[in-house]
Amino acid sequence: MPDAIVAEGLVKRYGALVALDGLDLRVPQGSVTALLGPNGAGKTTTVRVLSTLLIPDAGRATVAGIDVLRDPRALRSRIGASGQYAAVDEYLTGSENLEMVGRLYHMGVRRSKERARELLERFRLSDAADRPVRTYSGGMRRRLDLAGALVANPPVLFLDEPTTGLDPRARLDLWDVIEELVAGGTTLLLTTQYMDEADRLADAIAVIDHGRVIARGTADELKTLVGGDRIELTVDHADNIGVATQALKSLADGEIRVEPGLRRIIVPVSDGSQALVAAIGKLAELDVRLHDVGLRRPSLDDVFLSLTGHEAEELVNGGGAAAEFETAEGKSR
Ligand SMILES: Nc1ncnc2c1ncn2[C@@H]1O[C@H](COP(=O)(O)OP(=O)(O)O)[C@@H](O)[C@H]1O
Ligand SMILES: [Mg+2]
Repeated sequence: MPDAIVAEGLVKRYGALVALDGLDLRVPQGSVTALLGPNGAGKTTTVRVLSTLLIPDAGRATVAGIDVLRDPRALRSRIGASGQYAAVDEYLTGSENLEMVGRLYHMGVRRSKERARELLERFRLSDAADRPVRTYSGGMRRRLDLAGALVANPPVLFLDEPTTGLDPRARLDLWDVIEELVAGGTTLLLTTQYMDEADRLADAIAVIDHGRVIARGTADELKTLVGGDRIELTVDHADNIGVATQALKSLADGEIRVEPGLRRIIVPVSDGSQALVAAIGKLAELDVRLHDVGLRRPSLDDVFLSLTGHEAEELVNGGGAAAEFETAEGKSR
């Protein structure tokens, strides 16, 4: 498959701040890539460059075979974008909003109305079609925003944090919609701060931190970066650490780690659940009591932590992306 999105060495500075620091990215046609990273990592900046809204200081990019910098006009009709900053008019109805987008693409009145009806149906908004958007719930607005990005049937779609700020139910709903959408062959670049979202929706994940892609792979490939399954046992008495560690050696697939202060023994294993049962059996035979025992599988959060040295959540809390972005923009005006 040829790549529908190619970015090479993108650099974007805001004064002294380097928002993109030589970003490379490739998204094969018809696939979904998640750009996963904490608040401030450069996700929105990347999407804005790729969708012709922002000119980078260096680097090059092509989307759907079109050079982003050389031919932005030609590109605009081939992409759809939606995200954190929903571009819907509060006072227009759902269908009026979509019709307006159709007219912007020179689709003509009749075709625009038809397309609006189709999309409202597809996004389960038919019942609300004639209500002003200001009466919509957060989830409904996001679905409408997404529908707006699809009016011109673009082969490449950018979704910037599509579910940030939604309640869990609306989030699941939107995931379903996005899954249906990509089943139709659309190339999608999606940004997210959520590991589970990337895991669920994306074929490939590019981890972004400080304006650079620091790792790339499938969710499973990224998880193996931090090692496989491990058993974590906490013994009741520190005196038992030695004998327990000795007994668990035959089960270990790699080096056993001991955290004496916590009375914890961490055993890398290949077959997690079987090894867990065996470990409990062995320690019971030796009369070693356990305070706690569990099987740990690496999560994408573990991946993020081991790649960046900091947890994604550390940077996510407080403020929220939209607020920070708007403040930054307001100041620069
Ligand atoms: N218009 C702007 N003016 C100044 N700084 C900005 C502007 N837009 C973004 N930034 C900064 O660039 C960095 C990357 O921002 P952004 O791409 O919005 O990250 P993300 O979308 O991953 O949260 C952040 O440090 C942000 O504060
Ligand atoms: Mg953002």
